[in-house]
Amino acid sequence: MKFDLNNFLLAVSFALDYIEKDVFGLALNHGKRVAYDSLMLGKRLGMDEDDLADLVSLAVLHDNGLSEYISAQHARALTKPTQFENVKDHCIIGERNVENYPFLREEKTIILYHHEKLDGSGLFHLRGSEIPLKAQIISFADYIDIRFDSSKMYGEYKNRVKEHIVKLRDKKFSPAICDAFFDEINRASYRLDQEDGNIVNAINRYTPQKYMIMDYKRVREISMIFSRIIDAKSKFTGRHSKGLSEKAGAMAAFYHYSEEKTIKLHIAADLHDLGKLLIANDILEAERKLTTDEFAKIQSHTYYTRVAMERISGFEDITEWAANHHEKLNGKGYPYGLAAKDLDFNSRLLGCLDIYQALTEDRPYRSGMGHLEGMKIMTDMADGGFIDKGIVKDIGEVFAYRGKEKIK
Ligand SMILES: [Fe+2]
Ligand SMILES: [Fe+2]
Ligand SMILES: [Fe+2]
Ligand SMILES: [Fe+2]
Repeated sequence: MKFDLNNFLLAVSFALDYIEKDVFGLALNHGKRVAYDSLMLGKRLGMDEDDLADLVSLAVLHDNGLSEYISAQHARALTKPTQFENVKDHCIIGERNVENYPFLREEKTIILYHHEKLDGSGLFHLRGSEIPLKAQIISFADYIDIRFDSSKMYGEYKNRVKEHIVKLRDKKFSPAICDAFFDEINRASYRLDQEDGNIVNAINRYTPQKYMIMDYKRVREISMIFSRIIDAKSKFTGRHSKGLSEKAGAMAAFYHYSEEKTIKLHIAADLHDLGKLLIANDILEAERKLTTDEFAKIQSHTYYTRVAMERISGFEDITEWAANHHEKLNGKGYPYGLAAKDLDFNSRLLGCLDIYQALTEDRPYRSGMGHLEGMKIMTDMADGGFIDKGIVKDIGEVFAYRGKEKIK
């Protein structure tokens, strides 16, 4: 399949940007604005098309390690955006997460060093040309977006930003990058492009179109990266997407699915809870009955899974299967209230498996149920008309060999 990597990234990464908005109070779309700035600076510095396409991917993903970092630091209150800049962990985790990402150039350590400064004052104390150029650009763009408001980049405000950066020129940031930035902010479209409603189109307009011919197997490698980011968001559900994907594989084997259909089902399972990145952890991790407001927020997660995935060409059926996992046959599910006639087999299958996975996985406040106990609840739901009876029976059969043993 012809696969537009950057299109895919932009589609799914809008969820990443919510983490920073929720946790650190950064304006929404931080990752995208960093990508826009990086792209424009890279162009002015004469990078070629492959480097520019990679630079956009890297910039969009630069803080991907935050979800895991946040959950690891859950007990600690981190509230100011500047606090996380001083933490190496999100750089190390982020670099590790993109290890298998199909970049066009074989170049490592960009995300690892995205907080380095020319004078060695960064997290790893690299200096000058020891810092890869792409990392220098992202570091600069990140610095700008955390401290300044691109929508005000004109008149007196623009002059103040310039004065600020002039002082750092050749100290924290390379003169070439600073000068390219001064040229950039002189055009009105710089601030207009970065408005929330325009930013995706602007990045698409200026990013070299680099399609890759990829089979679904290769795409799966990327969806697994996101599965890991999603699971890492909360230690309460730390293996949920991975576990679901494994079970989906077992069911696909049971139904003798073709290899391609199996991989597509895996991708749907990897990404099914993508929209959870938009939901604050105190709701995801509530150990009590949710309030009406909180439940309304939870209901939005599959809506956003669909919003992100439906933009990806080649993902039409994968999107259906992933985004319908909380719909019910009797129309009592969410967010669309779809009914039996709208739910294809794999949507029903993922819906059932998601329940089975949730029931049988351990949570910090309770251990997972055994197979039989979980099946009892699911059979009751099937009898009540909520989920597919036949599939529930098949799940009972496929995982029965584990008997009473807990399936995690
Ligand atoms: Fe960062
Ligand atoms: Fe950042
Ligand atoms: Fe879900
Ligand atoms: Fe789920």
